[in-house]
Amino acid sequence: MSPYDLLMRLVLIGDIHGYRLSVPPRELLGKRLIGQANLWLMRRMQFNTTLLDRVMTRALELLPDLAVWTGDLTSTALQSEFDDILERIEPFARRLPMLAVPGNHDRYTFASMRQHRFESSLNGMAPRTFPHLRELSAHWYLLALDSAVPNMVSSRGRIGHDQLEHTSALLDQAKGDKGLVVLCHYPVAVPKGQPMTWAHRLADFRQLTGVLAQHVRPTLFLHGHIHQPWSFHPDRGPLMHVTHINAGSPTMVKPSHPHGQGFWQIDLPDDPAATVGLVHHVPDDHTGEWVAQHVQ
Ligand SMILES: [Fe+2]
Ligand SMILES: [Fe+2]
Repeated sequence: MSPYDLLMRLVLIGDIHGYRLSVPPRELLGKRLIGQANLWLMRRMQFNTTLLDRVMTRALELLPDLAVWTGDLTSTALQSEFDDILERIEPFARRLPMLAVPGNHDRYTFASMRQHRFESSLNGMAPRTFPHLRELSAHWYLLALDSAVPNMVSSRGRIGHDQLEHTSALLDQAKGDKGLVVLCHYPVAVPKGQPMTWAHRLADFRQLTGVLAQHVRPTLFLHGHIHQPWSFHPDRGPLMHVTHINAGSPTMVKPSHPHGQGFWQIDLPDDPAATVGLVHHVPDDHTGEWVAQHVQ
């Protein structure tokens, strides 16, 4: 029996957006100047990173086998932002394996990308290389993709030709009877009616769609980036075999989610073609107590 045979339950945690309001002037160059102005004006009103402690405590009570993070742990990829978030996560990481992919805010500046700040900060929590394919269990694979690139003006993501080619080759070799869990910051598809602007989407979503369509198997596509939790199955098109799950932001406070947008519990069945257990854990609007919303 492989050591992974008992691995069944995932928790999915989305955009945290840790931030620092006080930043050394030498760091306030280029896009970070815009990002910090945004924080001063708006985001500090929206993101409450202290909510992460409650999320992790509740997640641990569910006895998951792995926590997966869809990125945007930070707001402007400052080392101090990574340090703050990791300090919060650390006590939980000792009790629960974790795997994270970067979001565009974790590669906010070209310097942060050159310095591999995400990879070095999340040592042990992030894959060393992308694409990263691993066996989750005897019945499921996990594929982690890097879709985050620094960008002076827009928030577009990109997986890139080489990573897509490599992904396709890995999936060619993967056993066809296993299910696939994809972890990627950007969505490859959004629900009907949901706007996805040019400036915020994955630039090569069509190419990624093509790769997934060439490797049809029961697939879950886990992503973040749009701060709004959802799950849906397309009823037409090339991705009908894919369940799309948007993590939402557990630290984002707004009238629709005054205590944050919660997190997901994902129970993977032994038969990948069987129904996946999906539960959205979200704080009650009034009391803040956890409510488990079971999704079909
Ligand atoms: Fe985000
Ligand atoms: Fe993002």
